[in-house]
Amino acid sequence: MKKSSRLTLDRILQSQGFGTRKWCRSLITDGEVRIDGQLITDYRTNFDTTDFAFELYGEVWPYREHVYIALNKPVNVECSRKPSHHPSVLTLLSEECTWRDVQPVGRLDHDTTGLLLLSDDGAFIHAQSSPKRHIPKVYLATTHEPVTEELVVQLLNGVQLHDEPELLAALVCRKVAEYRCEIILEQGKYHQVKRMLAAAGNHCTALQRITIGHLTLEQLGLDEGEWCYLEEHHLSLLVP
Ligand code: URA
Repeated sequence: MKKSSRLTLDRILQSQGFGTRKWCRSLITDGEVRIDGQLITDYRTNFDTTDFAFELYGEVWPYREHVYIALNKPVNVECSRKPSHHPSVLTLLSEECTWRDVQPVGRLDHDTTGLLLLSDDGAFIHAQSSPKRHIPKVYLATTHEPVTEELVVQLLNGVQLHDEPELLAALVCRKVAEYRCEIILEQGKYHQVKRMLAAAGNHCTALQRITIGHLTLEQLGLDEGEWCYLEEHHLSLLVP
């Protein structure tokens, strides 16, 4: 959602993650910033941020009130700001994202790959993580034992997980190969896919999240470790 507001150029640069106000002022006075091709060296010049763009070191940046990011998470990175055994997913993003305090929306295990959303919009993170929204997430699980009809039926009927008051069932469970199944879940409980497969007598050896709502990794065309900004048309796909 775009909000119209006038801001001084130093505040604009700071809000976009280009460092402290002092540093942003120095970028402007040093002649590194252009607006519509025109050099601006007075950091107090103010602009309407609606559909605004600026050029820094010759690169054009659209103004973004918030950033919404999709990452194709590789293995051996953790979805935590203070990781314990592997680097944080945040190390895969740009420095501007760190300055903007971008956070993962929910978590994937360190050995799970695939679609992970990140943002600096607290309301968005909260809404996307809310169990009330029932946003389906599609996982591709590789299993240790063959995927049997019985396993599929068990996951569809629901399995009992330790510390869960009720049975947890997959919305969809489909065998896609001898050792692979697609599982769609609405909830996002801790290690849910792995625990459900274990409760059904199998074992997950690899896990990839390929879709959130109607947004697929395939549409985004990201290789492992790559990320992109999400635009309005992508965000509209993040619905049940
Ligand atoms: N379920 C799991 O077991 N792990 C994940 O990372 C995501 C869902």
